[in-house]
Amino acid sequence: MTPPKSVRIIGWGAYAPERVLTNADLAQLVDTSDEWIRSRTGIRERRIAAPHETTATLAAIAAKRAIATAGLEPDDIDLIIVATLTPDYWMPSTAALVKEAIGNRRAPAFDVAAACSGFVFAYATADAYLRSGLYRNVLVIGAELLTRFLDFTDRNTCILFGDGAGAVVLSASDEEGGGMAGVELTTDPDGAYMIWLPSGGSRSPVSAETSRRGEHYLRMEGRETYKFATRTLASTALKAIQNAGWTPDQVDLFIPHQANIRIIESVAKGLDLPMERMFVNVDRYGNTSAASVGIALAEAVDTGRVKVGDRIVFVAFGAGFTSGAVALTWTADPAHGLRAAGVAPEAHVRAPVDWDSVDPMPPRLRAILAAKDGPPVPLDDVVPGEPAPAHPAGR
Ligand code: ACO
Repeated sequence: MTPPKSVRIIGWGAYAPERVLTNADLAQLVDTSDEWIRSRTGIRERRIAAPHETTATLAAIAAKRAIATAGLEPDDIDLIIVATLTPDYWMPSTAALVKEAIGNRRAPAFDVAAACSGFVFAYATADAYLRSGLYRNVLVIGAELLTRFLDFTDRNTCILFGDGAGAVVLSASDEEGGGMAGVELTTDPDGAYMIWLPSGGSRSPVSAETSRRGEHYLRMEGRETYKFATRTLASTALKAIQNAGWTPDQVDLFIPHQANIRIIESVAKGLDLPMERMFVNVDRYGNTSAASVGIALAEAVDTGRVKVGDRIVFVAFGAGFTSGAVALTWTADPAHGLRAAGVAPEAHVRAPVDWDSVDPMPPRLRAILAAKDGPPVPLDDVVPGEPAPAHPAGR
């Protein structure tokens, strides 16, 4: 085990499902408006996974793109870490499913649970493994399918989240310099019940009663979470920047967790920086939790916002409460993103034998999507757990 001279990002990739859900669509489900959502959150639309997609399939597509960008083969990956709060199952890990789906036969694979900070926590974990000299190439993925865990009658939460995945390949390098220069991770259990999902764990296993109470849906105290985010994001980023020996004005681009444009603005204000230094795509994806920083990074690089030598900071916050920031120097040729152009947006995750899931789409969401495709299905006709009624033949 020879420790490397540096640890660098050599590959990046993202995937967001094709289907778009607009604010106007949501306004048909709950008492809200495009104007309210845009002005309070900055979100215009988000992506919704198709019924055949799962967190593992989203993750596998982003992973294949990151591996292609890195110029590697799947079996060159020595370790796979998936950050998610919406796994396919409680067990096995989503990382195990992703390993098989991308055709890797060698790597150990595990999940990280740190909610929306998950990508940053997983990144820091991968960096530590690589610095120890244990591995050469680690795949870090943030992937979420949040729309399956939302109550589409709760306007406080259902407007905020979307589905997607982002990935990077981190690699040990024999060259000096580049990569992570500073890191800061925090966990504040005071906020444990500010964002949570009550049932399905050992405290409250799933039953007809938990289901009746709607305890399989994400719950959130929006205002408290907002306060934590605005208090913490700038200070966490600042600590990582200081650990790197930098000052905020030396950072070329911040890639913050995309939860709310007002939260991102407050980070810029807290660090006394113009909004031009903040990468923003919350308008098009909403909050994709652990996927958000990975998707934003891939977009930032592929749209020319990042060049070799740039100082970049990832910063995120989430349930726990958790927060995390990584300050790094970019070393990869952004043009390598073109290598992923041929990776099809498809992945196959092996299904169990003799078992099939119930229809995974929340009925109200399915109804609204069906209405976009054809004549509207009255919401009253939707039976929870069953597919939306088919449109009458010939219409
Ligand atoms: N449409 C219309 N009105 C709404 C909606 C909606 N979708 N949601 C809430 N309101 C109403 C409220 O009921 C309230 O009405 P009231 O004054 O009559 O009680 C009013 O709007 C204002 O509500 P606030 O909660 O004060 O609105 P705020 O400006 O704080 O915005 C928001 C709410 C967007 C949720 C904000 O608090 C926020 O972004 N919080 C952070 C959320 C977050 O980032 N969560 C992700 C955490 S990461 C993770 O780990 C999953």
